[in-house]
Amino acid sequence: MSAGVRHLYLHLPFCAYRCGYCDFVTLVGGDDALHRRYVDAVLTELELERPQLAPLLETVFLGGGTPTFTASRELARLLAALPPADEVTVEANPETVTPELTRLLSRNGVNRVSIGAQSFHTRLLGVLDRRAGPEDVRRAFHHLRDAGLDNLSLDLLYGIPGQSPSDLERDLEEALALGPEHLSCYELEAKPGTRFAHTFGDELVRQSEAMEGYFERVVQTLTGAGYRWYETANFCLRAELAGDRDLRARHNLGYWLGRDYVGLGIGAVSTVGGKRWRNGPKLGSYLAATEAGSSPPRDVEPLDEDVRLRERLLLGLRLDEPVPLAGLEPALDAAALARLSRLGLAEQVDGGLSLTERGRFLGGGVTAELLAT
Ligand SMILES: C[S@@+](CC[C@H](N)C(=O)[O-])C[C@H]1O[C@@H](n2cnc3c(N)ncnc32)[C@H](O)[C@@H]1O
Ligand code: SF4
Repeated sequence: MSAGVRHLYLHLPFCAYRCGYCDFVTLVGGDDALHRRYVDAVLTELELERPQLAPLLETVFLGGGTPTFTASRELARLLAALPPADEVTVEANPETVTPELTRLLSRNGVNRVSIGAQSFHTRLLGVLDRRAGPEDVRRAFHHLRDAGLDNLSLDLLYGIPGQSPSDLERDLEEALALGPEHLSCYELEAKPGTRFAHTFGDELVRQSEAMEGYFERVVQTLTGAGYRWYETANFCLRAELAGDRDLRARHNLGYWLGRDYVGLGIGAVSTVGGKRWRNGPKLGSYLAATEAGSSPPRDVEPLDEDVRLRERLLLGLRLDEPVPLAGLEPALDAAALARLSRLGLAEQVDGGLSLTERGRFLGGGVTAELLAT
């Protein structure tokens, strides 16, 4: 029996609107009464899962959806009921961030906020169907700073149709001008079945080769500005520039390091002790089950040793620190490792394996070759 799971995810699915590119489990609108029922349901699920959780957590992450769109009384009630944690992160859409909201967050133990900026160009935000403009992003950032939050992250997207290399440079400059502790930069994906995929899917395929250049530009600009490229798409201010603080996102680091986590809410995934389960995405059945005091409907996926080892490599190699190889050998193709080491794409140091900078730029392809079939 372990000392308990130390990472907790809560899914808050409500959004004011649905962005065309998004395929997360979301629900548009909902009134205060529905938000109250949902928070009650999540708290019931928390009680059912509490025996698995450590009394003091390392991280809590409220993701969405738009957690900051949840009725404020309900959001405060949920935050106040959570077990204590060292890092408590909330995802926020810029247009939802008001001085009242920032006070609510900091009063209730939130010490990290991830703001979905995506871009600072009105035209590109329009392509994404975003409601927030560049001024909303800046205003949200300053409100959070004013409330004393000293660990802020910005999400940016690259590969938005019509985004030129100089548009991307401007987005990065605008983001850097705010001085965030952390940045996540994702390549925009056309998720099957979304409005965006329907309209722009072919264009994303046409521009896919150019994306390698965009990615290199992101990495060069951010590392040049003092950020550590600690994970494929994630950057944090270097410790020596941040009073020795390690500003990596501890919650996501838990996923990348293969730690156990419990996820609550519709569509949330948990991985505990070699077993993975995913809550069903339907609100009705989630509420019905929890209101009857039971766990929600779930798909359970046993994780056999082989899958766990491969996942450990797949995720670990996204990081800038070596993955300890002890025990992972069965998942590794030794001949591919020798070949990729000769090509200067992977390297072994002190019993650990990492990708070189060139290997990290090529990313998934190199890792896929390293995995034994
Ligand atoms: C759970 S989402 C949404 C958070 C928040 N509701 C928002 O919209 O800002 C977290 C992040 O995933 C990224 N994301 C969402 N859809 C994406 C897509 N189709 N391709 C790449 N990144 C995506 C966005 O950068 C977004 O900020
Ligand atoms: S991108 Fe964010 S705001 Fe837009 S629908 Fe998805 S979760 Fe909601």
